[in-house]
Amino acid sequence: MKFNSLKGVQDIFPSEIYIWQKIENISREVFGKYGYHEIRLPIIESTDIFTRSIGKTTDIVEKEMYTFNDKGGRSITLRPEGTASFVRAYVQNHLYNKPSPQKYYYMGPMFRYENPQSERYRQFYQIGVEALGTDNPQLDTEIISMLWVILKNSGMKKPSIEVSSIGCFECRPEFRSIFKKTIKDKLNVFCNDCQRRYKSNPLRILDCKVSSCIKARRGSPSIIDYLCNKCKTHFDKLKHNLELLGVPFTVNPNIVRGLDYYTRTAFEVTSEDLGSQNAVAAGGRYDGLVQEFGGPSVSGIGFAIGVERLASILEDNSGENTGPELYFCTLGQDASEEGFLLTEQLRGLGIWTETNHDASSLKSQMRKADRIGSRHVMILGEDELKKGTATIRDMHNKKETNVSIKANDILKVLNKKD
Ligand code: HAM
Repeated sequence: MKFNSLKGVQDIFPSEIYIWQKIENISREVFGKYGYHEIRLPIIESTDIFTRSIGKTTDIVEKEMYTFNDKGGRSITLRPEGTASFVRAYVQNHLYNKPSPQKYYYMGPMFRYENPQSERYRQFYQIGVEALGTDNPQLDTEIISMLWVILKNSGMKKPSIEVSSIGCFECRPEFRSIFKKTIKDKLNVFCNDCQRRYKSNPLRILDCKVSSCIKARRGSPSIIDYLCNKCKTHFDKLKHNLELLGVPFTVNPNIVRGLDYYTRTAFEVTSEDLGSQNAVAAGGRYDGLVQEFGGPSVSGIGFAIGVERLASILEDNSGENTGPELYFCTLGQDASEEGFLLTEQLRGLGIWTETNHDASSLKSQMRKADRIGSRHVMILGEDELKKGTATIRDMHNKKETNVSIKANDILKVLNKKD
């Protein structure tokens, strides 16, 4: 029987992993400087954690969750994102009693039952951060600046940062009804999804990518013009602070985000090197979410980077993921055992070493050493064992060096590179 991976799910092989690890290492390094600590959250949660926070009328909850009943009859969901799980952990473990702001990061797979297409998967990886405990726009600025630093240090060319404010529970309802009134008469020109959203979640119409919808909503009011005083001041300070720190950004009032928990600051980073799924990272503020989970009134903000998307637009440095330093080709039982022992000893001395495990010809062993990109090759046969010396061949410059068959002596030759 032939087995294949599921639709929208992919294997990540070593040639791609190099770039993933680079992104992860750079992120960890930057997080350390900004005081973010790692948290590992469960991949499965009670379904209501997501329906309650992300919102019943969002695409994620309506159509995209991997939900099943476990053997105890509980409704379980594979996490579609990390923020809801994080806030559950924050409230459950009373992290609000610790000094503010509390700053965390996580890395791992998320699951959404979306229509797979280029850079849109059903299992995808995020690097996310959450910071809770202050609604000061300095925190918003800092988090956007940190994201920019990570993307820049990873080698992303021209990250385009778009920011907006989506108001709060006080000013957004007024904007929502004004927006609805503006488009009511031309609703029939909007796509079917938008006609449905008009009733359930009208602001999502602002973010629809269908060209007829983009055209139809042109000239409609912008939420930024309807912000209450507090939200407006918050947004003005964010923009001022971003300028202060030299973080390039543009204001895009059409950012509405696909999750209901957001308040005020919303942002996205896009890349022109991606197709229609061009958001590399996105996030925003969620000032009511901790209370929604039964905690105190604590505000929060965060973002998540889509690792597949970022990896796909970075230069392919997989060449740096090269082969072993030394490969032993052996002939005969005794030489095979000697090569096996030396391989283990050299690994213990910090050298990536490989040997042949099959009784194959010297020619095929040499070919294998070449195919896996070994920098050096050493041939061990009966003669070499008798003499106690052998030749190390540098596969780059073809130079040969005679050396006694002892791990420490071999090490010296390997370390003496031209
Ligand atoms: P999100 O916008 O749903 O936000 O996802 C963040 C990023 O994950 C996207 O910008 C994209 O790069 C990537 N992504 C999302 N869906 C897929 C997919 N199906 N395939 C590949 N990549 C994908 C959140 O998840 C929020 N929890 C972010 C956040 C954290 N807000 C506050 N704190």
